[in-house]
Amino acid sequence: MSRIYTYDGDLQQAVAGQSVTLLMEDEIDISRGDVISGVSSPAQTADQFETSLVWMHDEPLLPGRPYLMKLGTQTVSATVTDIKYQVNVNTLEHTASKQLDLNAIGVCSLSLNKAVAFDAFKDNQDTGGFILVDRMTNNTVGAGMLNFALRRSQNIHMQHVDIGKLQRAEAKVQKPAVLWFTGLSGAGKSTIANLVEQKLYAQGQHTYLLDGDNVRHGLNRDLGFTDADRVENIRRVSEVARLMVDAGLIVLTAFISPFRSERRMARDLLDEGEFIEIFVDTPLDVAEERDPKGLYRKARRGELQNFTGIDSAYEAPESPEIHLHTDKLSPEDAADAIIKALRERGLIN
Ligand code: ADX
Repeated sequence: MSRIYTYDGDLQQAVAGQSVTLLMEDEIDISRGDVISGVSSPAQTADQFETSLVWMHDEPLLPGRPYLMKLGTQTVSATVTDIKYQVNVNTLEHTASKQLDLNAIGVCSLSLNKAVAFDAFKDNQDTGGFILVDRMTNNTVGAGMLNFALRRSQNIHMQHVDIGKLQRAEAKVQKPAVLWFTGLSGAGKSTIANLVEQKLYAQGQHTYLLDGDNVRHGLNRDLGFTDADRVENIRRVSEVARLMVDAGLIVLTAFISPFRSERRMARDLLDEGEFIEIFVDTPLDVAEERDPKGLYRKARRGELQNFTGIDSAYEAPESPEIHLHTDKLSPEDAADAIIKALRERGLIN
């Protein structure tokens, strides 16, 4: 560093709380919020931690859902990858848990989207204590302490590969994308996605259709329909869709995907313009009337728990790229509307 500027002239030293501008000797990409440390005692950095955290919101903490983490001056995206145990505050007993409810305390593994400079909370409360913020509402939902960095965070690096998305897509002469269908059960997601895939295939596009019921027979056969399981369902599907886009494919996904937060996560994994959210919008009473699999009837009789639209929430998209009212549109017309919209966006010819 070569100078410390302030409005009132240069300084020889600056301390916490002062507002200063630093002139660096070398050209490096740093900005407000970054951490500078002495060469003789470099800050530790990591992107995976064991943490102790207290949950402070009515909506439970769900593993796999991204939250914003504020640690000192740094803000990153953070996901709980595992709740190791919950602590019973009265007995101090450890219990297994799939989610943390209001006021619950848990020891959790946390994974960040990029490395942060940190200290263990026991060594420094400022660089070891953090809060979690909901990305959709901006509410503070949790607070925690970094216990230690997980070793795997230091030992796993990204491997460079020479053939990238661009080359794979060029070989297929197409623009990769995800067509993300969302809507109630019975709205027509699978039917329309199936028709759209046929139309894309007929004009020579390379596609893959990930369908909820099918994926739940294989990759996600261990998951049910609790909120936590749906978050994990969509997290895995988002990662698979991202890999397929990287392979140069046009991917169609047909999942209820009831929560905005996870649809946003899927969008954020991709580049600008690659994620096309398609809201297959049918009023609940129409979907229930159709009831192609007899599941609404079962849910109404109380034989099926956590059914979307009955006793489990569906959060409609606020600004989907494509919005189809499938109570008024035949599946064939809906598929044509999608193909037209994709042409207008320049995704296909
Ligand atoms: S999601 O909510 O996690 O995105 P997904 O699309 O994978 O759901 O699976 C939904 C399909 O599972 C429905 O089309 C329906 O056939 C079946 N299903 C079984 N139980 C439920 C339930 N409780 N809620 C919703 N769908 C269910």
